[in-house]
Amino acid sequence: MRYKINNAEIDVLAPFIYQLTGIVLDYSKAYLFETRLGPILEKYDIANFTDLIKSIALNRKIEHDVIDAITTQETLFFRDKSPFDFIQNKFFPDFFEKYGMKAHLKVWSAASSTGQEIYSIAMTLKNILFDLTKYNIHLFATDISDDAIKRASSGRYNKFELSRGLEDRILHKYFDEEETSWRIKDELRHAVHFRQLNLLKPFVNIPKQHLIFCRNVAIYFSREDRSMLYNKLADMLEENGVLVISSTESLNGLTDRFVKEQFHNATFYRKVK
Ligand SMILES: C[S@@+](CC[C@H](N)C(=O)[O-])C[C@H]1O[C@@H](n2cnc3c(N)ncnc32)[C@H](O)[C@@H]1O
Repeated sequence: MRYKINNAEIDVLAPFIYQLTGIVLDYSKAYLFETRLGPILEKYDIANFTDLIKSIALNRKIEHDVIDAITTQETLFFRDKSPFDFIQNKFFPDFFEKYGMKAHLKVWSAASSTGQEIYSIAMTLKNILFDLTKYNIHLFATDISDDAIKRASSGRYNKFELSRGLEDRILHKYFDEEETSWRIKDELRHAVHFRQLNLLKPFVNIPKQHLIFCRNVAIYFSREDRSMLYNKLADMLEENGVLVISSTESLNGLTDRFVKEQFHNATFYRKVK
């Protein structure tokens, strides 16, 4: 059944979704409310979109379902390739040369979706270090979606997900085949700590990082929230730490805390203040 949403309902739901996620929606996204939230109305037997908000107040599970449904979790392994060339051939070698092989390396994938980004970083590190258990490495991955975090921490992917970004050679090296899926090897999975986190809320108990990937999430936010987020991420970086955003995103006019640098085809942002 297709539930229809009217403008008056969007007037109520859009600010509510914004409060929950920072995602900005308007009348032009009526289809998105209908296709993504419609199944929730059906699942919980809620009559219409107006009643949805009332139901959320009574049942937090519905709130989680709304967040899972409204967020776009599109991702793939080694997405855009050039950032992984940058970390493999520039960032990590420079880091270990400067701080020594025993240094405590902290990397954060903020808005990690179902984990492909942080596991691509873990695989890149393993290419360099061979055995991650011998090093002091802290890989951290967060997302607002409980569902995405649950899937990411399981480390399980189906054939289709694996075919997006992974060559067969890599698949056998870093994954174990199970009955209906493949699971990232324990050594890589255990190197990552996952946590549910809304990037627009205060960051609590997160240590400063050397490298932050924050890609393909700020595009959904207002300009003010993007600016606030990038300034907060600057606060979360160690001195000279690096922020990687996607090639379709920009820090122009949003923060003056970074300088833009280039390595081959990769653009990255180094914290300067
Ligand atoms: C398109 S995916 C990007 C995943 C990965 N970074 C990449 O580039 O492939 C966007 C992710 O941002 C998450 N997200 C949306 N709003 C968020 C927020 N306010 N705080 C944290 N994560 C959020 C979504 O749940 C989704 O998993």
